[in-house]
Amino acid sequence: MNINTIAGAVRRLSVMDTQIDLFEGQYPVPQGVSYNTHLIEDEKTALLDTVDARFASAWLQALLQALGGKKLDYLVISHMEPDHSGSVAALCKAYPDVTLVGNAKTFAMLDRFTQDEPVANQRLVVAEGATLSLGEHVLRFAMAPMVHWPEVMVAYEEKEKVLFSADAFGCFGSADDYDDWENEARRYYANIVGKYGVQVQALLRKAQALDIAVICPLHGPALSGERMTRAIGLYDLWSKWMPQEKGVLVAYAGFHGHTAQAAERMAACLRERGEHVALADLARVHRSYAVSEAFHYDRMVLAATTYDGAYAPAMEAFLSALKHKNLQNRTVALMENGTWAPMAAKHMRAALSEMKNMAVLDSQVTICSALSQKCCDDIATLADELTR
Ligand code: FEO
Repeated sequence: MNINTIAGAVRRLSVMDTQIDLFEGQYPVPQGVSYNTHLIEDEKTALLDTVDARFASAWLQALLQALGGKKLDYLVISHMEPDHSGSVAALCKAYPDVTLVGNAKTFAMLDRFTQDEPVANQRLVVAEGATLSLGEHVLRFAMAPMVHWPEVMVAYEEKEKVLFSADAFGCFGSADDYDDWENEARRYYANIVGKYGVQVQALLRKAQALDIAVICPLHGPALSGERMTRAIGLYDLWSKWMPQEKGVLVAYAGFHGHTAQAAERMAACLRERGEHVALADLARVHRSYAVSEAFHYDRMVLAATTYDGAYAPAMEAFLSALKHKNLQNRTVALMENGTWAPMAAKHMRAALSEMKNMAVLDSQVTICSALSQKCCDDIATLADELTR
């Protein structure tokens, strides 16, 4: 448990979860993930959000210490996903007089999550633009539907100029600032919120009208200064599915090493031509990392072995993930492998045709079982075309 002052009367109570194996049951978090909650103390006290139920006891203990005997007046529920709402019922038991603050969708979801033991606390329903005065501090609420569930709302505190941004601007790993923040923030964005770029753009337009000194997300570090400016710029690019920088993701899925050799050869050719390259063995690296690199760079080379009359399952899963995340605006080159009837490129082309603004090069490389000199020449020619 960490308690940090964010600004003036705003403190963050943050739980670092290093026990979790897969976040949301699917994403590896080797550095863990934080669940951030925020306490504002004025004439009235307000807590924004709770934590995963597994940490309720330690977190309530820290809250008791942070309040130092003061009454807790409000619990604002920004997001009902259980990593943030999992301790609402426990908090209500500990603070039976607390008023819950949410929107109509929040409370419909809360009632679904607590069907057998409904939370019966006093409720304050807020809508777009509603304010909650705590004394000198005032929270103004803005709805942020689908960033990342329908009920999500953010709050801006005018005196300290803090935006409580819910899942937006979140990050895997530590709640303290750290060097790999940008990579893990993009992996978080692409995989958790990536599908909802239109809704993120709507939130960014609302944020543009505010004078923000600090952004406090529900996961990862609070953002201020240059890091905050950088984060807002990146969110603008990512949410338009525009590449963050020029470069190539070379992603491959093969069985006996020859497709891997072809992919490595392509990566080397691209590096010789001065490109930034990320190389991903889709069967061995978790797809969340490859999806993040697809959001990162402007081009992709996809290499897959033919399998069961289609193509390697790891590539199929990757393309399915990109389609789910609405990835668009990329240039793609294809490489396939097959011993008797290579057809991976045809199937990858079909999958890519279902995505928006994907420019797939007509030229492609076919590897007949093993990497021959002719294949190497074809790879070099394709690399030339991709970097022209
Ligand atoms: Fe961190 Fe959508 O919950």
